[in-house]
Amino acid sequence: MNPSVKTVNIFFATSSGNAKAVAITLQKKLKQNGLRVKFKSILKIDVDTLYSMSALGQYNIFVSSTFGEGQLPDMAQNFYTSLLESIEGNKNIFYSIVGLGDKSYSKFCNSVDVLGDEFERLNFTKVSPDVKFNVDFNSIMDETFQKIAEDIIIDTKNPNPYEASTLMGDDQDEDEVEDIKDGLGYSSKEPVKFKVKEIINLHDEPSPKETRFISFALPESLSYVAGDSFGVMPPMDEKRNPHQDKNPRLYSVSSSQRAYPNEVHVTVGRLVYKDENGKLVKGLCSNYLNDLKVGDEVDGFIRQNTMFRLPKKDTDIIMISIGTGIAPMRGFLQDRVETDGNGKNWLIFGNEHMTCDFLYQQEWIDAKASDNLHNISLAWSHDQDLLIFVQDRILEEKAEFMKWIENGACIYVCGSAKVYEFIHKALVEIFSEFYNITKEQANDKLIDFLDEGRLQKDVL
Ligand SMILES: Cc1cc2nc3c(=O)[nH]c(=O)nc-3n(C[C@H](O)[C@H](O)[C@H](O)COP(=O)(O)OP(=O)(O)OC[C@H]3O[C@@H](n4cnc5c(N)ncnc54)[C@H](O)[C@@H]3O)c2cc1C
Ligand SMILES: Cc1cc2nc3c(=O)[nH]c(=O)nc-3n(C[C@H](O)[C@H](O)[C@H](O)COP(=O)(O)O)c2cc1C
Repeated sequence: MNPSVKTVNIFFATSSGNAKAVAITLQKKLKQNGLRVKFKSILKIDVDTLYSMSALGQYNIFVSSTFGEGQLPDMAQNFYTSLLESIEGNKNIFYSIVGLGDKSYSKFCNSVDVLGDEFERLNFTKVSPDVKFNVDFNSIMDETFQKIAEDIIIDTKNPNPYEASTLMGDDQDEDEVEDIKDGLGYSSKEPVKFKVKEIINLHDEPSPKETRFISFALPESLSYVAGDSFGVMPPMDEKRNPHQDKNPRLYSVSSSQRAYPNEVHVTVGRLVYKDENGKLVKGLCSNYLNDLKVGDEVDGFIRQNTMFRLPKKDTDIIMISIGTGIAPMRGFLQDRVETDGNGKNWLIFGNEHMTCDFLYQQEWIDAKASDNLHNISLAWSHDQDLLIFVQDRILEEKAEFMKWIENGACIYVCGSAKVYEFIHKALVEIFSEFYNITKEQANDKLIDFLDEGRLQKDVL
């Protein structure tokens, strides 16, 4: 190995895959400039790892999107906690930050500031100015990354920049990566019109809930993959309450384009809740969408999510969802049927009542009857005195569940963040029992699953 080559670690933090794709492009650019580059998700990194790598003179570039209301993606939480808990400064940590965001959100690229503030507090040394990419970053990436490469090459402050190490594992090139789609119809910056073809309430009487299946005509130039989301711009003419913002809302795509080449389907629950004063509040977008009529048009866009993708067609999948969390699973199953592999499909679904809240009931029953769905487990929380949830079904069926896992199954979870916590806890429990390991070790195993894409989640 050439000892005079500087080594750069790229850590990416992503929710839907853009930051990973950007990190891969950055990796290629740095390599073209003769740098040695290592590339990893931030999921298993903490400050100690950073300290040990930086002690060897390595540079660190963080590529992170912003999620929620100005937050770091989930996978960066451990790293961020370890930063917050750090007290001692270290000026020998050399870093740059590349942020991805969307200017239609009020806290644009806030992750860059959140990380930057801590790095500054800890006296780390910044090598390049912060980068904040809006949604249309494809055209400026090359030039921006060339500058970052040059900043590292000319840097003379790093006291020990020539030490080669394999601490972080070998360089890895990810060849099979989807291009990042931008432009017309692919971001909140350039929404297009989607016309309603069909709209149906999926609940039966007497359920007070409303969740609508909506089929939109797909504009000709656009394409999507099962696992993507459909973005909707909120209507502008409504009176908003302080909680209602102008951010685009996302809805998991509920169809496969292989099955419906000219349509995109979504599954939208109508949000109505009582505020602290007991006043009924209607969610802005979910009510707007539930009230649409055939022929109406919405301003929308397809939002790629490369972190929520089906595995190879012969790999088994276990789909766990609650309520509207069923949305992406319908698209996944359609895609599996169209691609005709040997992988088996298992749906674990929970909602309140079987008779009125079994979303897409007939489709699941038909899929089971025709052997496209190989196993189905249902948890009706309110159909008996004792509340039963999907995590209870997982625990009950742990032997079968672990048989599928041992056979290489991938797990997909879709529901609220709170519900995900319960499911994760159940998975820790059955992994710990099956492999005869501690809960902590089981949790680490699940983190490995997340890192490898064997456990994928779409948190609503
Ligand atoms: C990746 C992703 C995929 C999604 N997929 C789907 C999907 O397939 N189907 C679907 O229906 N939704 C989905 N969602 C949720 C969806 O994007 C919207 O958040 C949801 O429809 C509510 O939007 P709204 O405009 O109706 O509500 P808003 O007007 O935005 O109101 C929501 C706000 O109201 C407040 N609020 C909500 N409930 C309560 C309560 N009980 N008590 C007090 N305050 C409350 C909170 O501040 C909340 O942020 C998804 C979200 C994400 C991020
Ligand atoms: C629910 C949600 C919340 C978001 N919040 C913000 C935000 O607060 N600030 C911002 O700049 N971008 C925000 N974004 C935009 C994303 O950061 C942007 O789409 C980015 O390209 C996603 O990259 P990723 O796929 O690597 O996660 C948000 C996106 C979603 C879906």
